Amino acid sequence: MKILFASSEAYPLIKTGGLADVAESLPRALCAEGLDARLVLPAYREVLRQFEAPRILGWLDIATAAGRQVARVLEVRHAAFAQPVFLIDAPAHFDRAGGPYQHPDGYDWPDNAERFALFSQAVALLADDALNLGWRPDVVHANDWQTGLVPAYLSQLSEPPRSLFTIHNIAYDCQFDMGTFNHLLMPREWWSMHLGEFYGRFSMLKSGLVFCDVITTVSPTYAEEICTPAYGYGYAAVLQSDCNKLHGILNGIDTETWDPRRDPLLVAHYQLKSPIRPAKRRNREALMERLGASPAARESRDPLIGFVGRLVDQKGVDLLADTIPVALENHALQFAVIGTGHPHLEARLARLAELNPDRVLLHLGYDERMAHLLEAGSDLFVMPSRYEPCGLNQMYSMRYGTPPIVHATGGLADTVIDASEEHLADGLATGFTFEYPEVQDLSTAISRALALHADPKAWMALMKNGMRQDFSWARSAREYIRLYRGGEHPANEKPSNLHP
Ligand code: ADP
Ligand code: GLC
Repeated sequence: MKILFASSEAYPLIKTGGLADVAESLPRALCAEGLDARLVLPAYREVLRQFEAPRILGWLDIATAAGRQVARVLEVRHAAFAQPVFLIDAPAHFDRAGGPYQHPDGYDWPDNAERFALFSQAVALLADDALNLGWRPDVVHANDWQTGLVPAYLSQLSEPPRSLFTIHNIAYDCQFDMGTFNHLLMPREWWSMHLGEFYGRFSMLKSGLVFCDVITTVSPTYAEEICTPAYGYGYAAVLQSDCNKLHGILNGIDTETWDPRRDPLLVAHYQLKSPIRPAKRRNREALMERLGASPAARESRDPLIGFVGRLVDQKGVDLLADTIPVALENHALQFAVIGTGHPHLEARLARLAELNPDRVLLHLGYDERMAHLLEAGSDLFVMPSRYEPCGLNQMYSMRYGTPPIVHATGGLADTVIDASEEHLADGLATGFTFEYPEVQDLSTAISRALALHADPKAWMALMKNGMRQDFSWARSAREYIRLYRGGEHPANEKPSNLHP
């Protein structure tokens, strides 16, 4: 079976968040199951600079606002991908400095709708084998709003392949007005409340939802949550109108990149059967050094709570910033925070680091090595996300023997088993969950975690439970394959490593 996997980012070529991790590891897991899964990405400058001589497969003729335009299709090979990767090369849209969605100064590119409409059209043409490559996918798997128009453009083909659309985050949708809609030369009938029109605007995300054959999202709990007004960002009714179309499949993680036994970004390796604490301590020291910590901070034996992530409201960064002073007041502990994002959240964290120089260590930036050192070198990992479709960091942290403290929402609820007395007794506990994203609840969870941390034997058992979890992609890949084939996914059935 041939799958064309369309994504706007993929690690290690270009990454802003978890979608990139999924776009690397899911196609590989599908190939390991015997499928021919190929990735297609925009040829951003950042991606092109990583390849010396991409092969030109051909030229696609695309209708754009500026008239008919030609996009080249390039083919590159990279060790991270089992199959060749297609790049859609449209220099006016993608060959620019900055991120995939944002200007270097941090604001969204004003022509994002146009850029990703072009990308989506190109994907549909590639799926129709417009270049006569002799490669025609059975299924096109699109991801998030950037590829929301892929199922729409596929619907125009005489024999469209099956389409699956994955929601990684329903809060991001890319809406525009009728002027832009006309400018993008979209078929008039798409401006309908039954298709892409959304409260008087056009939504790229809604197009993906209505035109595709199957919708998935990245955890069973998030699949339930987005059908409610509180989490659905206006799309609950669209999803409820065809409940059988939506399936929750938990993301896996790349267990090769994230492996404490051989992760090249760590300074000391460890596993279940080797001494864990000394290796974690060495990684902590390396992390402290990179964070520019004072000697007092480096030598401290206080528990270290880590956070890595985009500094945005979704991640509960404001809640973390409100809770840090309370936790520092009540406990001997340190925080290490790595992230970039909204200037007001960056400023709040910077102020906390300034006020508590030996106890709050901060790196405002994107740093892959530091993220790995933090997962390994911290004692606890905190994710107070207000909502979290899946979340990958909590799975990385469990694998690195760093129990997470999480708000029980979305994929966090599906992957972390609370250290309640009952779950500690039956050996299932892997971390700490709290019910409401409020300072009181997070503070209580931190206190519970520190109380258990004071008992080395109980703590080691908790760490090892997390390290033993199987978060590999194989099981989820098989669930996708069943949906690709048109089979039913047992609705919201929870995999066996979830809450008992
Ligand atoms: P989201 O996709 O919502 O940002 P996920 O938990 O799914 O959240 O994935 C985030 C990914 O991005 C993880 O691999 C995480 O380690 C990485 N990441 C986020 N911010 C940073 C940062 N500042 N430095 C390094 N890695 C980061
Ligand atoms: C999104 C979500 C995150 C998820 C990731 C990969 O960015 O915010 O929870 O893990 O996509 O699916």
